Amino acid sequence: MSISKQELIKTLQKYQPKKIGFIDKLKISYRPMVCPFDDLLDIIPEHESIFDIGCGSGMFLSLVATYKNPEKVYGIEIDDKLIENAKKIFKNINVPSEFKKYNGNILPQEINSFKYITLIDVLHHIPKYNQIIFLKNIFDMMNEESILIIKDIDRKNPLHYWNKIHDMVFSGEIGSEPNSVELQNELTNMGFKEITKSYRTMLLYPHFTLICQK
Ligand SMILES: C[S@@+](CC[C@H](N)C(=O)[O-])C[C@H]1O[C@@H](n2cnc3c(N)ncnc32)[C@H](O)[C@@H]1O
Repeated sequence: MSISKQELIKTLQKYQPKKIGFIDKLKISYRPMVCPFDDLLDIIPEHESIFDIGCGSGMFLSLVATYKNPEKVYGIEIDDKLIENAKKIFKNINVPSEFKKYNGNILPQEINSFKYITLIDVLHHIPKYNQIIFLKNIFDMMNEESILIIKDIDRKNPLHYWNKIHDMVFSGEIGSEPNSVELQNELTNMGFKEITKSYRTMLLYPHFTLICQK
């Protein structure tokens, strides 16, 4: 059975760094209300190592560390402040971890030693014209048989406008949500062997998840 949202929120609150801004606090604690972390955790097996691209303040990785006994977690982000938050959170978590700022483009070579790579609500923050190049770059760096889990908001569903309002309020930007069907075709053409898709609407956010095996 999936871990309840309430329990995930409690865990995130337990690790929350003391000295962070009000908005960051809200974003960290209540993320499981607007993002299906419970479903994503169900996909991750025990004792695996996870590489999270656009890890934010390390929220998903802290949940993986709490519930999945991973060998190691590794997060990369374009935002210094969020990397600092993630490092603070992991001071209280006894799992080997590494967090690095990167330029949003050139991925660390170590990605090829991870079987599970996650990209959670990052794609819609990348300009549309760059999304496929960004994914191809990940694909090229991935090891054979490894798995990329993409969770994003589906442009195919008119409710994706709700996410635009959310991003405008919390990030001051308008996202480029991908269309899940077009994206799946692009990923197949790119060379992913097997892709499993699922949908879930939570609090009006139309989510899709693609589990893509190289
Ligand atoms: C909605 S947040 C999601 C954070 C985290 N993945 C989560 O699910 O809680 C989007 C994140 O993507 C990051 N981001 C934006 N462009 C990126 C890029 N090119 N590479 C990696 N991360 C990026 C932002 O800094 C932000 O932390």
